[in-house]
Amino acid sequence: MRIILIGFMASGKTTVGKAIANKLGLKFIDMDREIEKEENCSIADIFKEHGEAYFRMAETNLLKNVIYKEDVVISTGGGVVTKEENIDILKTQENVIFLDANVETLVRNVSSEVEKRPLLKESFDVQKKISNMLSSRYDKYIRASKLIIDTNNKNVEEVVGQILVYIG
Ligand code: S3P
Repeated sequence: MRIILIGFMASGKTTVGKAIANKLGLKFIDMDREIEKEENCSIADIFKEHGEAYFRMAETNLLKNVIYKEDVVISTGGGVVTKEENIDILKTQENVIFLDANVETLVRNVSSEVEKRPLLKESFDVQKKISNMLSSRYDKYIRASKLIIDTNNKNVEEVVGQILVYIG
């Protein structure tokens, strides 16, 4: 069993991922945290010191690696779908689940954590930035996923419940 969560920053991938892993007795892998461990550096510092392209390369390398792991729940970074190569990899997988949150929900969730997110922290208008980024990525999340869950106004248990029904 391998469950892969995709979706925008602050859509709840980590929280939901940990909860499903717990429920099903699977290992939880957060790709951002794995990259931070490998690089011995925070995501924000990787972006600052090496740039986004370097981070995206590390992300693709890790994705190629983790999709062969068994009995895992994998939480991806929100930008994993920005590379077609990554979408192709995700499309080979059965349980790729898109946590679909709207701009309002994302702004609410991200407000306390903007500093950790290099692509948002320079923005004067975070809502506009999220809205633009989400528009350019939305179709990619759809294409990469097998199941779409509208997470707006749902708590973690409700989202987890929907995932459990899907995987049967
Ligand atoms: C990114 C999302 C982040 C992290 C990096 C880039 C993005 O992951 O990978 O800051 O491009 O949307 P989360 O979705 O876990 O915040």
